[in-house]
Amino acid sequence: MELAINGGTPVRTRPFTPWPQYGRPEEEALLSVLHSRAWGGYHPAVKELEQSFAQFHEAPHAVSCANGTVALETALRAVGVGPGDEVIVPPFTFVASATAILLAGGVPVFADIDPATFNLSVAAAEAAITPRTRAIVAVHFGGRPAELDAFQALARKHGLALVEDAAHAHGARWMGKPVGVWGDAGSFSFQEFKLMTAGEGGMIVTTSNEIADRCWAYCNQGRRRGAGWFEHYTLGTNYRLSGFQAAVLCAQLRRLPEQTRTRAANAAYLRERLRQVPGLRVPEDDPRIENQPHYLTTFWYDAEAFGGQPRGAVLAALQAEGIPFKPSYPHPLYRNPVFGEAYARLNLPVSERACREGVWLGQSPLLGERSDIDDVVEALDKVRRMAGTLPVREVVAGGA
Ligand SMILES: Cc1ncc(COP(=O)(O)O)c(C=O)c1O
Repeated sequence: MELAINGGTPVRTRPFTPWPQYGRPEEEALLSVLHSRAWGGYHPAVKELEQSFAQFHEAPHAVSCANGTVALETALRAVGVGPGDEVIVPPFTFVASATAILLAGGVPVFADIDPATFNLSVAAAEAAITPRTRAIVAVHFGGRPAELDAFQALARKHGLALVEDAAHAHGARWMGKPVGVWGDAGSFSFQEFKLMTAGEGGMIVTTSNEIADRCWAYCNQGRRRGAGWFEHYTLGTNYRLSGFQAAVLCAQLRRLPEQTRTRAANAAYLRERLRQVPGLRVPEDDPRIENQPHYLTTFWYDAEAFGGQPRGAVLAALQAEGIPFKPSYPHPLYRNPVFGEAYARLNLPVSERACREGVWLGQSPLLGERSDIDDVVEALDKVRRMAGTLPVREVVAGGA
């Protein structure tokens, strides 16, 4: 037997379940908007989506918008973040979690993550609070909810707003309550890799009438619901979702519970199988979490199990075996040139290590059969056993 990267036969040549998924409901929804000749953001499908998404998250309000980045920016503005306000955010996440703070006029203050979860550490967030802190952005990384009861208590204790970046976590629950409603507002993304998608799109959920009204006004040119089209009360912009997107998303939302169950069953099986195969360590399950969507499964890479081989060489070999493991982010957010020299001296050790040693697997392998998981584990075991024959090669970080 030889590794596929050295010319051997790959463990897997068949593709995993394709993403996004669609069928007749999406096709019919699109045609119905087309035929209605009302294609814009005031199509009834938008209202239907907002109502069903709100209900799904047990929230009284959901406000749709163009994408997850502007959902977060809008939520931050609506909870009162403005020029110079500090907002605490983890650096092991997508750039939008931090740039949305800048777009709202605030200043991102990066705090480290917890190695047990890859999520923002409550203790690190507390240590980062200053008199200028206005809000905390808790990211539910990969779909695993942050410790929301603790963040809620921390925010209340210090008089801060809590905003949940739930771009990866549609429908997840923490201690019996959905994500999105623990904080003052929660933002979601419907970008094409996300758990439900119309190519692009976003949503804000909140339990507050005022925050919902502010979000709606900001996304709708400063109008008030029910007031005139040319009446503008506050500064706003056009962040609306179209009727086509909303109609597709209504159908996608109906698919989500079943897909979440499938991913959860396969994730549990993967966890069980990985007990016999060292090399990738997955964070422990937490009984406080329900409906974990497993958008990204994130692992710690253990070089020792692969004879000291660098992560990149092992991931290249796994990809050659047909398994789409990817390296995590290339660096913590604060090292991106967009922030200039602002964080030049910042070094958050767990986030740094997560960028060096983190590995993730997207949702596609979890959406199929158990035999797909068997292939994942077989490839991992093959590469581990034959790690001594690996050529040294790096793979480039990429999307989910
Ligand atoms: C954690 C996180 N927050 C926010 C976003 C932004 O969402 P969008 O791409 O819809 O603007 C993303 C998108 O990938 C994300 O991963």
